[in-house]
Amino acid sequence: MNHTKPLLITSLVVLFAGGLLAQKPQPKAAGIEAQGYKWNAEYGEKMEAMKKKGDVTAGEEAYETCAACHLPSGAGRPDGTFPQLAGQHPSVVIKQIADIRAGLRDNPIMYPFAITLTDPQQLANVSAYIQSLPIPHDNGKGPGAELATGKRLYERDCQTCHGANGEGDASKFYPVLAGQHYKYMLRQATDIRDGRRRNANPDMVKVIKPYTDKDIDAIVDYMSRLQMPDKKAAAKKK
Ligand code: HEC
Ligand code: HEC
Repeated sequence: MNHTKPLLITSLVVLFAGGLLAQKPQPKAAGIEAQGYKWNAEYGEKMEAMKKKGDVTAGEEAYETCAACHLPSGAGRPDGTFPQLAGQHPSVVIKQIADIRAGLRDNPIMYPFAITLTDPQQLANVSAYIQSLPIPHDNGKGPGAELATGKRLYERDCQTCHGANGEGDASKFYPVLAGQHYKYMLRQATDIRDGRRRNANPDMVKVIKPYTDKDIDAIVDYMSRLQMPDKKAAAKKK
């Protein structure tokens, strides 16, 4: 891919295409539990894509459409509109895109693009490319006022899944959160607590349910400062 191509032009083309495609509204499925599904049930396209070996070079080309929003570096935006993707586990990228397509996670902005990624090989390719990108450290951070509280709560309730350094767990579909933007995580954590993000792991929903907005703020602020010691840690855990 040509990284020197002005991002603005790519963005305009993508947003225009999105406008045309957006006529197809995103389906809105009830939450996984409401439907009587198991979390992360092994359904079709996700398992197909998981079986394929991703090709990073082919993925780089496919990533061009994604770059308009998530940026060529994968860094997203500190204002939380677009998440940081670089270094994410392929399993997580594949699951989230499949869930968005299935209407389990609302994302009207990205939906028109998510539905173009139906080929399991291409989904595996773009995920492999995303994983190969180094995780930036200049992600959006919180105000830093309640870090001790945030750390205590994180270690008590979140670390078993998200890891001491925010590395997640590829084999369990737990996302890398090291380098993720504070404002994005704040929105997601609140949406998961309040049931708006309907694809979330029920064990996470259970631990986060009793949290106040202030608790969530403290914990996500702490999380926004986590760094994986080795950016390839995500790749190794595959
Ligand atoms: C038009 C803008 C746009 C484009 C193009 C786009 N995305 Fe997104 N994407 C978003 C937004 C907005 C979110 C966050 C939605 C939310 O807040 O829940 C998102 C979320 C995601 C997530 C979930 C991240 C997480 O941490 O759970 C993944 C994975 C993702 N995008 C991958 C892609 C890939 C791969 C492509 C290219 C095929 C792509 N996106 C193209 C806007 C876009
Ligand atoms: C049982 C494992 C588990 C526990 C415990 C857990 N999480 Fe999660 N978390 C997940 C999974 C899995 C996802 C991705 C959503 C999905 O597909 O289920 C996630 C997603 C998130 C996200 C959104 C990430 C993104 O990229 O969109 C945030 C923020 C988050 N968790 C914060 C927390 C906090 C804060 C706690 C502790 C209060 C916590 N989690 C506890 C498994 C867990």
